[in-house]
Amino acid sequence: MNVQDLIIKKRDGLELGQEEIEFLVQGISDGSIPDYQISAWAMAVYFQGMNDRETRDLALAMAYSGEVADLSAVSGVTVDKHSTGGVGDKTTMVVIPLVAAAGVPVAKMSGRGLGHTGGTIDKFESIPGFQVQLSHRQFVEQVNQVKAAVISQSGNLVPADKRLYAIRDVTGTVESIPLIASSIMSKKIASGSRGIVLDVKVGTGAFMKEQREAVRLARAMVEIGRGAGRQVVALLTDMSQPLGRTVGNSLEVQEAIDTLRGEGPADLEKLSIILAAHMLVLGDRYSDLDSAINGVREMLDSGHALEKFKQMIAAQGGILDYERSDYGLPVARFEAEVRANRDAYVSGLNALEVGRTAMLLGAGRERLGDNIDYAAGVKLAKKYGDYVTAGEIIATVYSNDKSRIDGAGQRLVNAYQFSDHRPDSLPLVIDTIK
Ligand code: URA
Repeated sequence: MNVQDLIIKKRDGLELGQEEIEFLVQGISDGSIPDYQISAWAMAVYFQGMNDRETRDLALAMAYSGEVADLSAVSGVTVDKHSTGGVGDKTTMVVIPLVAAAGVPVAKMSGRGLGHTGGTIDKFESIPGFQVQLSHRQFVEQVNQVKAAVISQSGNLVPADKRLYAIRDVTGTVESIPLIASSIMSKKIASGSRGIVLDVKVGTGAFMKEQREAVRLARAMVEIGRGAGRQVVALLTDMSQPLGRTVGNSLEVQEAIDTLRGEGPADLEKLSIILAAHMLVLGDRYSDLDSAINGVREMLDSGHALEKFKQMIAAQGGILDYERSDYGLPVARFEAEVRANRDAYVSGLNALEVGRTAMLLGAGRERLGDNIDYAAGVKLAKKYGDYVTAGEIIATVYSNDKSRIDGAGQRLVNAYQFSDHRPDSLPLVIDTIK
């Protein structure tokens, strides 16, 4: 087989066969195909697309291009969740203990963040002492004992995606639905869970800005999962404004714990409950969504989910003080309040701008390998639909670097839109795709 022929075939809008896709993926993983041919092929896919069968073949070939997690030693059906990435999205920290407390094991492999979205692993790492690197044996043992563990994704998982993504990132070929769907699902399949709940974010702070595109991505991922023998449900959820009231690593951990204590923001609590309920249905704990939602509420209200969170943190070496309001998490040395300059309703809160502000404060990485200021970030006192009066605090910015604070406050003001009229409410869960 010749790589050039496959590039030309795709360039001319023809379908690639399974063996041809496997040949390409093999060459991407072992380095035998050079970057320039991979980028030409990715550009051909960008313009010509791939059908469902090609997309599934690509995802499966990538999933098996390296190590595949073996969760056969975990008792019970393991379930996973994945968010396509949003600002202030800390649901994983709430969802894992909700699901585990209800008896379904969660063996979670997560990544670090790049850019404004921030990774789940960075958030957990802001907890003093918390270990995200466990051996496979320790990981499985903890999942069997505690029913929950979260680790940093192994370097050998899906090597083909690692190389392909790095090339796409610098060749203008990230924004292709078959390439995004196969990239995400290859990692989920290689992570080993039988049931997968996908949270596909839509809006300014998300990969997918338009609902139509988000639906296409969700459908493509559900199809791949089904083809790989996994049970998959995708929810389309709002990311036109940040989720919850905090953006930034330790601030988000604090908010997740508040939520497990029943004192969190309504949107975060609601979405976490719905995601956890879908996971419990996929994990065969409940036969329908309504009973699962009742079950999850019971885990939250009884304090069982908070106990499960404490067990998981302690099992991985994390040290928190649940008697303190900051739970012993890193706290920033500098902060500044941002105030409204008129009486009005908040009629828009641009998630991307809030995320970028948090990144400039030190909460995210501009480049791979940048250090993170765990305490940096933003707390939003006012969100979409809230009424503010002139001089009232709308947000607070935090950083350990004083020079980053001043510009951040001004930037955050610009993320807000105000109106004299109460805006229509926004749906949190826009659609469910099975
Ligand atoms: N996230 C991924 O893992 N892959 C993509 O292609 C886009 C987002």
